[in-house]
Amino acid sequence: MKLLRTVDQVRAALREPRQRGERIGLVPTMGAFHDGHLALIRAAREACEVVVVSLFVNPSQFDATDDLRRYPRDEPSDVRAAEAEGADVLFAPSVDELYPPGFDTWVDPGELGTVLEGAARPGHFRGVATVCTKLFSIAQPNIAWFGQKDAQQVAVIRHVVAGLNLPLEIDVIATVRDADGLALSSRNVLLSPDERARALVLPRAMEAGRTAHLAGGDAVQAARAVLDGEPGVEVDYVAMAEFGAPTLVAAIRVGSTRLIDNAVLG
Ligand code: PAJ
Repeated sequence: MKLLRTVDQVRAALREPRQRGERIGLVPTMGAFHDGHLALIRAAREACEVVVVSLFVNPSQFDATDDLRRYPRDEPSDVRAAEAEGADVLFAPSVDELYPPGFDTWVDPGELGTVLEGAARPGHFRGVATVCTKLFSIAQPNIAWFGQKDAQQVAVIRHVVAGLNLPLEIDVIATVRDADGLALSSRNVLLSPDERARALVLPRAMEAGRTAHLAGGDAVQAARAVLDGEPGVEVDYVAMAEFGAPTLVAAIRVGSTRLIDNAVLG
């Protein structure tokens, strides 16, 4: 596996495989890999001859209330894990490489970027859309992989790809969970044992919503009732969203950690 730091290095590494007609798969990440990230790399490995994983804690998608410095980082361990999963390239650029002085060209995903996660985190999806568009332009993948865990992110990326006529396919993998149901997230390591236990209310609420929906009831109401019953958990939102399919989405705060989850009810 090649560990590359610059745009030019990535372009040079991909030139010949592309000319040979090999398919290039891209897995964008912010590192601190867990099994969700590894499942994405595996999906890319199965579908493409060349697998590019990007590792970049993108400052432009963190708003003031997010603590960019608190975001978990472990590059040496990520390098080993990406290599073990058979990635061909790990692109881990500096902030200056992707946002050189004077950078001010943004991709604005519009209305979709302003609701739910976008309302809670102003500018977040502009940062996500911009960095992903840059990564698509740098690696020019045939396919890029994203996780259903971040359902609105998937919707935003599809919206940008369609809106800008970007020549790639977006593939999505199911949310990978711990045995007890909690969706894997790089932020889970920030939870204390007590907070980790309380966070389980989130997957329970998604299941309650799914059950209510299947019985012809109100998924949002059922999910909210479960969340409201858990002390020490602050509900940010619970709602239905039309992200390709009707999707129950929720965000909660446990201590100082914000967690999201969703259930597709289509
Ligand atoms: P990050 O949070 O590192 O996630 C990288 C990819 O892993 C995303 O597509 C995310 O949806 C997926 N993922 C995270 N947890 C998952 C889980 N439990 N199951 C399945 N997939 C999961 O999302 C980002 O980084 C950034 O916003 C990024 C797209 C890289 C742009 O900076």
